[in-house]
Amino acid sequence: MIWCPLLAYDIIAGEMNRPTVFKDEAKLFPDHVPANLVHRDPQLKSLSRVFRVMIESPGSVAQKATLVGDVGVGKTAVAKRFGSTLESLARDRGISLRYIHVNCYKDRTLFLVIKKVAQQVMPSIPDRGFSAQELFQTLWKILEDENMYLLLALDEIDFLISVAGEKDAPLYFLSRVADEYLNRPQRLSLILITRNLDFLSGLDKSVQSTLLHNVIKFERYGADQLHDIIKLRGQDAIREGALSDEVLSMISDISAPRGDARYALELLWRAGKYADAESNTRVLPEHVRKAQLDVSQFPMHIIMDLPLHERLFLLSVAKVLKKSRSAYVTMGEVESTYRVLCENRGIEPRKHTQFWEYLQNLKNLGIMYAKLSGAGYRGKTTLIGLLNISIEAVEEALSKDGK
Ligand SMILES: Nc1ncnc2c1ncn2[C@@H]1O[C@H](COP(=O)(O)OP(=O)(O)OP(=O)(O)O)[C@@H](O)[C@H]1O
Ligand SMILES: [Mg+2]
Repeated sequence: MIWCPLLAYDIIAGEMNRPTVFKDEAKLFPDHVPANLVHRDPQLKSLSRVFRVMIESPGSVAQKATLVGDVGVGKTAVAKRFGSTLESLARDRGISLRYIHVNCYKDRTLFLVIKKVAQQVMPSIPDRGFSAQELFQTLWKILEDENMYLLLALDEIDFLISVAGEKDAPLYFLSRVADEYLNRPQRLSLILITRNLDFLSGLDKSVQSTLLHNVIKFERYGADQLHDIIKLRGQDAIREGALSDEVLSMISDISAPRGDARYALELLWRAGKYADAESNTRVLPEHVRKAQLDVSQFPMHIIMDLPLHERLFLLSVAKVLKKSRSAYVTMGEVESTYRVLCENRGIEPRKHTQFWEYLQNLKNLGIMYAKLSGAGYRGKTTLIGLLNISIEAVEEALSKDGK
């Protein structure tokens, strides 16, 4: 028999024409902000009460609210939905109000945050050669000239850090900036978003009390709530008849101990992918089981996107843990391995003091934990362990890391 290879075109076209359970899978993606955020009415109402003054009497006061809750409980989605709704309500009243959402995991300093805001308000603002404060003044002038108001959401606020040379800590600056423009309209209101209130501990007392004034809590979702969430999102994303109530219940039961909607949505999406791979027109419980095995892995792209020295710090922890075969390692052990890794790559190691910051960031990501040593150690030392991720996975992702 003559072997006749299929043309790439036929392979691709064949795949594209296979039946699928999805009608619009993007509706399940984590950054999609649905119009309907079920079980978050209390939070949406609280936000409305805090910020209604921005459209009722613009400029009269700079409002602040802090959103707190665990992973995947809807903080980001609620803030974004609220922001875009407030923008359109303001537009209806002829008020120029912009909602800007900045993720501090990506933009970690005051300068980078202000730059992000400036770029959105006025793409032509030059940002080189300016200090954060100077750039802010330019921005403020534009806001005044255009009679514009800003609601700025700072997401994952724990990652915002102070850098040498900046006069004020970022949150001090942003929450007190209006003091400089007393008797002029207040143009900047803030929403801060965090998993816990630890970030407040190092801050000035007056800033702390301002930020604690309007704390809006997000509880973890229960099984029934998760069921409603994935049912609604599933209706937009998955073809009618492909999703049974049994599968929805299974996914919400599996996700309930975490209370995390992102996890539940990812399970649903992956289960749909398994159904497609088998050309099945329905999502079955076995697809959910397979999906669960995949989703339990920590998303590795997050690790690969970390700054270089944080990656090397994480890799050092993994290497020392592997060698010691224990659950914890000491900061001292990690530091010496880190130095060797830097030397091998011909890069200058960072100072000891930086490690606390790396540790904090990796703790915030939920992949590292730390505790003080007890019996069996000389003196008090910090012990570090890995969570939600294996040594092997870290090594695989980062070992070739020479960037
Ligand atoms: N009530 C809800 N209805 C529909 N979708 C929701 C709801 N709550 C959360 N989601 C969805 O779940 C996912 C996770 O929500 P979100 O990103 O807002 O979580 P988060 O609290 O910001 O978590 P993290 O602390 O990890 O950033 C998103 O896709 C979001 O759209
Ligand atoms: Mg979020």
